[in-house]
Amino acid sequence: MLMQAPEIIQLPKILDDRGNLSFIEECNHIPFKIERTYWIYDVPGGECRGGHAYSDLQEFIVALSGSFDVVLHDGEKELRFHLNRSYYGLYIPKMMWRELENFSTNSLALILADQKYSEDAYIRDFDEFVQKANDQ
Ligand code: TYD
Repeated sequence: MLMQAPEIIQLPKILDDRGNLSFIEECNHIPFKIERTYWIYDVPGGECRGGHAYSDLQEFIVALSGSFDVVLHDGEKELRFHLNRSYYGLYIPKMMWRELENFSTNSLALILADQKYSEDAYIRDFDEFVQKANDQ
């Protein structure tokens, strides 16, 4: 499972009258081993998260509750994804500028990453990112 472009992935959905169930298996539903899981919650109205890229880190984002937009930039063009179901997720390869915005009330963003947290993994300057993306 080699993926190099952002892509919405539909996750398994076990329908049940008692409540539905979905799941994610590393290297099966997503193309990497999970080293870290974090989540973003209690986002005040109008706030935006992200605003950075990772030079060598992949992520998978699921709207476990509510909805939000993920705005990506690959160095040339912008791509916008709306996440609003807990059985869909967005795969984001390395070297994508990404912002999360338009959070609905009580939204919960689950993020799986293939590396542990390190500030060294971040590119936080957009111009530097575009330069690096176009050098590749
Ligand atoms: P950051 O990734 O910049 O937030 P976002 O892109 O979602 O707006 O992280 C915000 C702060 O939290 C920053 O000081 C680093 C810290 N942090 C961790 O300590 N561990 C983590 O796994 C993450 C994602 C962030």
